[in-house]
Amino acid sequence: MNGTEEINNEKVLYRGDNIIEASGVHFYYRSAADDAESAANKKEILKGVDITVKRGEFLAILGHNGSGKSTLAKHFNSILVPTSGKVEIDGMDSADDENVYNIRRKVGMVFQNPDNQIVATIVEEDVAFAPENMGLPPEEIRERVDEALKEVRMYENRDKAPHLLSGGQKQRVAIAGIIAMRPECIVLDEPTAMLDPRGRREVIETVKRLNGEQGITVIMITHYMDEAAQCDRVVVIDEGNILMDGTPREVFSRVEELEAVGLDSPQAAQLAYELRKEGFDVPSGVVSVKECADAIQKLLEERKGVAVKD
Ligand SMILES: Nc1ncnc2c1ncn2[C@@H]1O[C@H](COP(=O)(O)OP(=O)(O)OP(=O)(O)O)[C@@H](O)[C@H]1O
Ligand SMILES: [Mg+2]
Repeated sequence: MNGTEEINNEKVLYRGDNIIEASGVHFYYRSAADDAESAANKKEILKGVDITVKRGEFLAILGHNGSGKSTLAKHFNSILVPTSGKVEIDGMDSADDENVYNIRRKVGMVFQNPDNQIVATIVEEDVAFAPENMGLPPEEIRERVDEALKEVRMYENRDKAPHLLSGGQKQRVAIAGIIAMRPECIVLDEPTAMLDPRGRREVIETVKRLNGEQGITVIMITHYMDEAAQCDRVVVIDEGNILMDGTPREVFSRVEELEAVGLDSPQAAQLAYELRKEGFDVPSGVVSVKECADAIQKLLEERKGVAVKD
């Protein structure tokens, strides 16, 4: 939590470690027909979610269709506010209307379909859209647009028409449009779902670079386990509850529990799990292809050793 502290009789503003703190978040969608009598029939989508996100973290959110991932993500920049419970973004209560503008500048959202997010007919004009709306002076807009386009490696394409770009390139332009606001955090809701493998790789590399080099906090919803395996932390949501929260190693070694809620583990983690089940000495927490290959090689070498001894 943020606040002020008195040091040597002076009030000093301090910032907490967490950019997002959500506690006891319950949420249901209200319809026009909502009234007190129908309250009992309302379907709760989030059922008391507690989650904190640290500054600089790279977090993946997983869950099967309809589990509440997008609904939760929309709480992170005040598109939705809790029916009960609290969400604070950098110490600002998301339910307070006065905070909405500052929250939206701090936390940018990127959605699945780049075509829905690109508004202009020239790449750089599209990226300039948010800084223009922020009322920044032209020189600063120019600087931010160039910087954002360079960060997503789209500077060379700045005067192209977005519809001529590949899906991965369009999604990178959409990300540049968010970066130009200089947010501290970006929330990406299945940013690679509509892309081919190459586009997926481009977008993930871009997001990893923004996190690693610029220190931007990243929250990414994905259905791709290999993408989640590259994050610092994985949160699994099921039916509006947080079911797991840990490192990819911790989460993906729980292969059977993930299966029970309709999720796979990365293929390497599944293979390691099957080998363990058959009695082979493979460490739990194997997530990447390299780790799995190393573990198998070790097994084979041990076997060879046994065979030689025999
Ligand atoms: N605007 C809305 N009005 C009413 N119900 C909604 C609305 N948006 C989503 N829902 C319902 O809320 C539940 C959770 O939806 P949400 O979009 O958060 O799930 P999700 O985990 O993001 O799913 P997916 O993987 O399909 O994107 C679903 O049952 C969905 O039908
Ligand atoms: Mg969704």
